[in-house]
Amino acid sequence: MSDTTAKLTLGGADTSYAVRSGSIGPDVIDIRKLYASTGAFTFDPGFMSTAACESGLTYIDGDEGVLLHRGYPIGQLAEQSSFMEVSYLLLNGELPSKDELAAFSRTITRHTMLHEQLATFYRGFRRDAHPMAIMCGVVGALSAFYHDSTDIADPHQRMVASHRLIAKMPTIAAMAYKYSIGQPFLYPRNDLSYTANFLRMTFGVPAEEYYVDPAIERAMDRIFILHADHEQNASTSTVRLAGSSGANPFACIAAGIACLWGPAHGGANEAALNMLREIGRPERIPEFIARAKDKNDPFRLMGFGHRVYKNYDPRATVMQQTLREVFEALKINDPVFDVAIQLEEMALNDPYFIEKKLFPNVDFYSGVILSAIGFPTEMFTVLFALARTVGWVAQWNEMISDPEQKIGRPRQLYTGPVQRDYVPVDKR
Ligand code: CMC
Repeated sequence: MSDTTAKLTLGGADTSYAVRSGSIGPDVIDIRKLYASTGAFTFDPGFMSTAACESGLTYIDGDEGVLLHRGYPIGQLAEQSSFMEVSYLLLNGELPSKDELAAFSRTITRHTMLHEQLATFYRGFRRDAHPMAIMCGVVGALSAFYHDSTDIADPHQRMVASHRLIAKMPTIAAMAYKYSIGQPFLYPRNDLSYTANFLRMTFGVPAEEYYVDPAIERAMDRIFILHADHEQNASTSTVRLAGSSGANPFACIAAGIACLWGPAHGGANEAALNMLREIGRPERIPEFIARAKDKNDPFRLMGFGHRVYKNYDPRATVMQQTLREVFEALKINDPVFDVAIQLEEMALNDPYFIEKKLFPNVDFYSGVILSAIGFPTEMFTVLFALARTVGWVAQWNEMISDPEQKIGRPRQLYTGPVQRDYVPVDKR
């Protein structure tokens, strides 16, 4: 943008606001002084046009279908990197050297055990509790156990808390699953990778050795990479807002987990798989496409559409490839695969979806893959939370380190009653 200020005329008075440019992406109009200079607020429910913070972590160009972490395209990271390396990158800003990566992986590995007392928390839940309910409770409870990493003003403690959260999430998630099926918890094993360790704690039993299939370990690691961070989405904004009051990191991540649970956010992969199973066979696809287009029917194609992507979600491209690899490795022949591929093709050629720029998002294929690997649908959002934890803590750290950080406190357009006098109950 050539202008460096934006002018506003309101009630006959002119005011101007600085226009700031990032390294890439749209410029922003800095309206922080708007209320002080005009007495008016902006109105932007859903943050359709509002940048709530400055960030150097993740960049999305929704029109072009681009996703970069610290400048690196998601496709390259998914193909060539590992979840541990991407975690280091998000937290520290640069790719690690070989030694730095080894040291980081060692640190994370050494934090994977949980305080033994935490295991008793699980027994307070019903066996049929949704694992996301358990995740909210147990992650929030971490703040009661790790007092030595809750001083948010101390950068060292912030980093220890970040490492603990990244390291303990697989253990907490696997225990939530084990509890639901009545099997004993498995302790982590330090000779396994982050992802292999999680697979063993989830699917292994103490009675025998668990073989980690390298193809599944790779697919799972890639799924973690694809979910690691996604700019200022609803759960990340929740983490930032909770953290802006000075709340401890464990409580903030528990808030993020609660937000992620919703079907319009992290719960969409569960909803997408349920939908594909309900469709059942390719012949029924047109019926469901017609329902998605019907204004009087609340049904939506789950796994389609995105607030930011108005093009193919680059994560969905990698997911589709991963799906093929997993089905090949496990020699699976499931009709849901054909339903997914054909539904995508039909929707992409349908004028309704073309006009509204609705493309498959990351959740369209992830549920099918996770189900093939053996996860029940209730675990899908848990896996998303596990992987997104690194994004949440990196964003939270960035916010706390920002000297301009303030408590998040939106305003409103009030439409309720104006002042009136209280009437005692016997006179109403
Ligand atoms: N199926 C049918 N129509 C849709 C769909 C869909 N999946 N998504 C959006 N539309 C229509 C919607 O009815 C609206 O039409 P109109 O303009 O005529 O009222 C238009 O497209 C714009 O939709 P919107 O709800 O105003 O857009 P939004 O940016 O507020 O919502 C969304 C984005 C992701 C919530 C929405 O596309 C959706 O509900 N998709 C299905 C759920 C889903 O897959 N969620 C996962 C998101 S990606 C994972 C993540 O980041 O958490």
